[in-house]
This record gives sequence, C-alpha cells and structure tokens, in this order.
Amino acid sequence: SVDPTLNLTNIQGDILSGLPKKTQTYIFFDITNVKKFRSDLRNFIPLIKTVAQVLKDRKAIDDHKKQKLPGLLPIVGVNIAFSHLGFAKLGVDDSTLVDPALGDNDPFKSGQKKDAVTNLGDPVKSAGTPDWEAPFLQDIHGVILISGDSHLNVNKKRLAIELIFGVNTPLASIKEVTSIVGDVRPGDESGHEHFGFLDGISNPVVDGFDTVINPGPKIVQQGVVLTGRPGDNGQGQTTPIPRADWAKDGSFLAFRYLFQQVPEFNQFLKANPIAKDGNGKVLTPEQGSDLLGARMVGRWKSGAPIDITPFQDDPVLAADPKRNNDFKFEGEINSQLRCPFAAHVRKTNPRNDLEVPPSPTPSIPVELRRIMRRGVQFGPEVTKEEATAGKTQHGRGLLFAAYQSSLANGFQFLQHSWANNQNFPPFETQPEQPGLDPLIGQGTRAMSGLDPLNEQKVLAMPAFIIPRGGEYFFSPSLSGLKATIAA
Ligand code: HEM
Repeated sequence: SVDPTLNLTNIQGDILSGLPKKTQTYIFFDITNVKKFRSDLRNFIPLIKTVAQVLKDRKAIDDHKKQKLPGLLPIVGVNIAFSHLGFAKLGVDDSTLVDPALGDNDPFKSGQKKDAVTNLGDPVKSAGTPDWEAPFLQDIHGVILISGDSHLNVNKKRLAIELIFGVNTPLASIKEVTSIVGDVRPGDESGHEHFGFLDGISNPVVDGFDTVINPGPKIVQQGVVLTGRPGDNGQGQTTPIPRADWAKDGSFLAFRYLFQQVPEFNQFLKANPIAKDGNGKVLTPEQGSDLLGARMVGRWKSGAPIDITPFQDDPVLAADPKRNNDFKFEGEINSQLRCPFAAHVRKTNPRNDLEVPPSPTPSIPVELRRIMRRGVQFGPEVTKEEATAGKTQHGRGLLFAAYQSSLANGFQFLQHSWANNQNFPPFETQPEQPGLDPLIGQGTRAMSGLDPLNEQKVLAMPAFIIPRGGEYFFSPSLSGLKATIAA
C-alpha cells in the first residue's frame, strides 16, 4: 500500500507516474517580467497534473482500453520546472537545492552548458562552449511540459498557457526561447526509440509508492527521486541534505536534446555482423547484425534482456513484466559471454557488478544512482532515401528527461563516470577493458565484448548519438510553487 506520509497531491505528476503521452511539447522559456510572472504563475498552477491526478488518468486510460472504446481518451498533462538561473531571476533563494558537499560544482548550480564541457564530454564548438543548437546556448529559466493524446489537445492547452503568461503580447511575463515537439513512434514502433529498441522498461521501483513490484533491481528509497524524503542524501553522504520546506517533494530534471544517427547506426550493424553466437552456431549476416545491436544495448529490439536470453530474441519474455527486468549479471563479474561490460544497460545500471567481490565496494550503493527516465522521441521516421544512402538527412532522436534527487549521483555520474569511462565496470581482475557505452559514451569510442567467442576483441565505432542541447531543472512541489515561487 502507498506510504501515507507520501503526499501525492503535492508532487508533480511526471516525476513518479510519468505524464501519459502520445505527444509532448517542451516550452523552454525566459522570465521577462518577474512581478507579473509570479502572479501569472498562480493562474497556471491549477493546470499542473499531480501524481494523484496522473494515477486517475492512467486508470481512466486502462478502463477505456479494457472497454475497447474507439480512439484515445483525450488527456493532457502539464508540469513546470525551473533552472538555477530561473530561481535567480525570480529572487527565490535556491541555496538548499545545492549539495553542500559540492558547492559551486553542483551541476544544478553550474548549469548544463558548463557541465557539458567540463563533465559530460559533449563535443565543443569553441573553448568552453558545447556544439549545441543556438537556443540552448542562451540562458533558459524554465521549462513547461505539455503531454497528451494528440497534437490538437496539446496545442489547445499550449494556447491556454500562452494566454496566462501573455506570450507575444505587451503584457508577456515570459518569452519562449524555443519549443520542441516529441512524438511516440507510430504503429508497432510505439514505445521503441529510433534505433528500434523498446525503451522505458527499467525504471526504479519507489518504496511506498509502487504497488506492483515485479522481480528486478532493488527497490529504491523515496529520496533517491524526491528531495526531502528518506534517502535524499546527496553526493556520498549518509545524512540528509537540509532542504528548505518549499524545496521538498520536488525532483531534479536532467533534460538532454539527443540526436540519433539512425541510418548510420544501421549501416554499422550491417557492416559488422557477429559471425557465430556464444555456442558456436554460425549466424546469417542478418542474425549477426541483430546480435551486434542487442549486445550494444544489452536488450534485443523486443526489450528481452540478453543476460537472460543471450543469443536469441524472446518476444514473450520481453512482454512479461515479471521476467523482463529480472536479471543482475549474476556470476558474470569477469565474463562478457552473455552481456558485454559496456552494453548500455550494464553501463547505466551495473546491478550485481558493483556488489559482488572482487569488485571494489562502491562509494555509494548502486540504488542511489538510479534515475527515473521519462523521455520521448522526436523527428520523423527514417525515409527510404536515408536508409539507402545510410546517411541522416532529417534530425531525429530522443528528448531525454530523467528525474533524481541528486544530479551528481544520478544523470551526471552515469554519463561522466560510467558511460564515458572505458575502465568501468572496474573489476579487480579485469579480463579486458570494457570501453565506452556504445550508445551515449563520449570520447574515443570503442568497446570489447561484442563478439561472444572473442571477448577481448575491440570494435571502434563512430558517434551515433549527438548531444545538441540541454539544461538542468528543478520540478518543485505544488506547495512550494504556491508558497514561495508564485505571488
Ligand atoms: C535503458 C536507449 C540515453 C540511461 C535504455 C534502454 C534503451 C535505451 C533501448 C533499454 C530499455 C530499458 O531498460 O528501459 C537509449 C537511447 C538514448 C539513451 C537511444 C539516447 C538517444 C541515455 C542516457 C542515459 C541513459 C543519456 C543516462 C546518462 C539509461 C538507464 C537505463 C537505460 C539508467 C536503464 C538501465 C537498467 O536499469 O537496466 N536506454 N538511452 N540512457 N538507459 Fe538509455
């Protein structure tokens, strides 16, 4: 049952329950009139969907499906989050959002533009400036998320929001820096990211919130995702960070504008098929390319984890929530036979790898590094011309969004210290260097373990995912918005 001390009407819906979406618009804004913004915000707050409301929406969607009613239930959800620059502009003291152990190096305080160059490894345009799209090089004060069943309903809500803030009128309190529309992919690709792999399978199960608990990674404390809740301890600390009241029941949102080179990725798979599976069975070129892709991600396109079914896809297993996340690289601390060390899901959630000797004890348990992923795809499907030429002509990718109570423990650490680190996971008797995360790793991109019969073999690869923008935000509680941010 749900922890009665968890106030679901105080927490923005996207954080714990994910706003239901076929489409999602992100409006990145600057505050141009502080006084008016704070009073406009009061009119905006009633539009925000809380966790409690999203749970109701989800139930209504399920009922609609069960009754086999036509079309999608018209549902729209709105959330809002602010950057450090936004709080500074508003004159809101956000010092208790900064981890005292990090001070000025706290990623929320420094902002992602700086972090991209110093820690995330994004390609640079000129000294100190990431090679990002122009709007993300400007200051961004906040983001409004609008999710819904259709463009029509999301756009209607957008107009209502723009009216509240007087956008494009002399009475405007915000200016839109840029806006991006993301769309779930069509038909059978629904839920799959643009390379074709099912996404959104493994998210942390939160103590006292989730009522359905499937076998899988350990349950996380509420404070791994929510500020001010048990376990909200910051970088390597065991004691809670003292948060101001308004800063509790919120979560940090890491947003990344990630472009995916899909035709190029497919060409790479085609050019490097694995010859034989781990049992020595000779594979057709197509099977070999599929296995290569699965070993880069750690799951088959269906979502089936290769740690459970290493050499053959298993769509039934993939669709079974009781089994599709129930693995921990057990007994494989020195083996890449089933799953390469650098496979994306092993890099970003190493599960047992960090818990079992001879692996060195991690500074903090792996559960404190879990993040709640809420991304959506953007851009069109690959065209025939692009597929034939093996070259991207239309921008597409992932609007990556992830919530956590500590950016330094969560997103930033995963990208910097795991994905971009060729020596991670760090086995004491490391048989071979893992290499970089083949999806998101930045640096000299290569990894071992792709060929199950030749784990030492290193395969170099170009970048398939290119970061073109982003920012760190804080998604406050409803009471924090009302009491401290709005006027
Ligand atoms: C899992 C794709 C970016 C962290 C996954 C999965 C896919 C995927 C297909 C497996 C499905 C699942 O377990 O839910 C991508 C793509 C990306 C991307 C295409 C970029 C375009 C990132 C970034 C991070 C990240 C930037 C964090 C730095 C994770 C985590 C998991 C995951 C934590 C779950 C691992 C687990 O618990 O097993 N991703 N990802 N991903 N990804 Fe990504």
